[in-house]
Amino acid sequence: MRGTLRPLSVAPMMARTDRHFRVFLRQLTRRTLLYTEMVTQHAVLHGDRDKILGFSPIEHPLALQLGGDDPALLAECARVAADWGYDEVNLNVGCPSERVQSGNFGACLMLEPDTVARAVEAMRAAVDLPITVKHRIGVDERDGYDDMLAFVDVVARAGADRFSVHARKAWLSGLSPKQNRTVPPLRYADVYRLKRERPDLPIEINGGITTLEATLEHLEHVDAVMIGRAAYDDPGLFGAADRLVFGDAAAPDVDAFTAVERLQPYVDAWVAGGGRLHQVTRHLMGLFAGLPGARRFRQVLSEQGARPTAGPEVLARALACVRRPG
Ligand SMILES: Cc1cc2nc3c(=O)[nH]c(=O)nc-3n(C[C@H](O)[C@H](O)[C@H](O)COP(=O)(O)O)c2cc1C
Repeated sequence: MRGTLRPLSVAPMMARTDRHFRVFLRQLTRRTLLYTEMVTQHAVLHGDRDKILGFSPIEHPLALQLGGDDPALLAECARVAADWGYDEVNLNVGCPSERVQSGNFGACLMLEPDTVARAVEAMRAAVDLPITVKHRIGVDERDGYDDMLAFVDVVARAGADRFSVHARKAWLSGLSPKQNRTVPPLRYADVYRLKRERPDLPIEINGGITTLEATLEHLEHVDAVMIGRAAYDDPGLFGAADRLVFGDAAAPDVDAFTAVERLQPYVDAWVAGGGRLHQVTRHLMGLFAGLPGARRFRQVLSEQGARPTAGPEVLARALACVRRPG
């Protein structure tokens, strides 16, 4: 296996896990593995790379998630990822959106394990980075445990370095991507069984996990836990991750106030470099829910912070509206 097995990651999420949100998460946790949003093979090869692939050194360890189905193109993408300094390349075999299906990638590739295997093989041959796969427990009628096992076995033989399993099946038609994250039931037992029956394969579980306590329980059964929506809705939960999940006794817990304060120099530099404040602060809207002043915090950020000329001091002004507990 290539790479370090990390027990906790933040899931790739389109329009959410961009470089700014990742830098914010890094104020809370040094060790959790972070992912980019999904980037298609064509975007990596033909798009504006600074915009699509650029990141700050503090974001390591960082995985680039790719969407695609062409082994040669994906291998080229993996080379680009290595040149840019990413720590891992992950292939998306879990997204059921129609746009993604029309490109023949995402969850529909669960029906084509050989294609995925060839892609993994080609990427592994191209670079020394870990090549990992994020997938579902099943799609459509192919949703039995044995179907998933057959998929994993084929892809494991190609050398995949970790399987991140969203513990729900996806319906390729009839459900929106959002419904596909809530309607099919979670089947954690299938993922646990996969780890039991394939103990040598690094297995990460994903889906519906919202606390570090639940994370620790899952870690009794699998190697790693991936948290998606809860990381966005309640990023503060990662403030204790280095200590509780990674066992780093020296890591002090960080609260959301401290994380926002620590983010300020990044915000200053981003705005000074011509970036817009709102690109960063839009990710902070969910913070401090329930605390006195949280509404005012959101108001200041959305009214003053969204102006094209908003300066970085708006963030400090918004933070000053929230009363710290205790
Ligand atoms: C807004 C949003 C965007 C997402 N984008 C991606 C993506 O780009 N790639 C991917 O593999 N999964 C994507 N997902 C799925 C998540 O990575 C994750 O598998 C799913 O949300 C289940 O985990 P959770 O219950 O912890 O949120 C997305 C989910 C959300 C909510």
